[in-house]
Amino acid sequence: MRRVKHKNKKSADKKGLSFRHLIDAKDLNRDDVEKILSLAARYHFEAEDGERRWKDAKGHILATLFFEPSTRTRFSFESAMLRLGGEVISLEQGSSSSTRKGETLSDTARVVSAYADIVVIRHPEAGSAAKFAKGALVPVINGGDGANQHPTQSLADLYTIRLAQGRLENLTIGVLGDLKNSRTAHSLLTLLSLYPKNKYVLISHPSLQLPREDKAGLAAAVETADLQSVIDKLDVLYVTRVQEERFADKAEYARVKNSFILTPESLKKAKKNMTLMHALPRVNEIHPDVDKLPQAAYFEQAGRAVFVRMALLTLMKRDAPLVAAL
Ligand code: NCD
Repeated sequence: MRRVKHKNKKSADKKGLSFRHLIDAKDLNRDDVEKILSLAARYHFEAEDGERRWKDAKGHILATLFFEPSTRTRFSFESAMLRLGGEVISLEQGSSSSTRKGETLSDTARVVSAYADIVVIRHPEAGSAAKFAKGALVPVINGGDGANQHPTQSLADLYTIRLAQGRLENLTIGVLGDLKNSRTAHSLLTLLSLYPKNKYVLISHPSLQLPREDKAGLAAAVETADLQSVIDKLDVLYVTRVQEERFADKAEYARVKNSFILTPESLKKAKKNMTLMHALPRVNEIHPDVDKLPQAAYFEQAGRAVFVRMALLTLMKRDAPLVAAL
């Protein structure tokens, strides 16, 4: 898997975020991450106090353009915008749009910029979100581009880790499953590398190891195919689905798809306060009997993502008058 490079104009606004489009986890510096997570925490606290609707995006429109299946990412962005008092227009099946007629992503972006103040795009091709952002006159968020990146999932993941473990540094973090093709793993490891003193344990079938360029930023990483040899050391275990849609050879998928199936038995030696995460959807990699264990955090992880996406929309949306961009 090739890491896709793209240019990203920096904003002059020191109080805001350092980027205009969120395409790659590398767009985020530590200050950005802290701003996003602290606003997410504020929304979370206010929600716990009974708030259901805010006004921070009143008058703004989010466009969600999804060319690949999604439940959580699309719904949590849409729910986030509605909770912020904004509105949503949505293309659920990208195949029904004019790209089908041969329109470039860049042209689609230029046009959608007149209809929305911020856009979330998901597309099966690595690099597609960056191409889209090139033509856009409004901020663009990558909701997953092929096997490449999924930075907003990783912000939500960091939020869960901090809530569960109380910190984002000095942790031993296991990442298990399809490390080759999992965009959530790629983005997560990039974001975590902003925090010091973490140790990483990369657990995968030998044919699904993390690509070399993703490994490069990790100071201390151990690779293994044997979960039992490391399970008792982990503070966090992040499980990924074997990404069937990225396999050209379905027989190869069949060979590796059940390399790891977590059960209460296989987690026996895990720390009681280990945080067991998964971006979902799961297929076979976590048995439903695991859901009742104290370590299971994946449903909360999905639920809290809405606060992180609210924070992102508030901080990123176009605030200039609509005509200024046209
Ligand atoms: C992930 C994705 O789309 O990359 N799902 C999600 O956004 N929650 C993980 C996956 O599909 O395996």
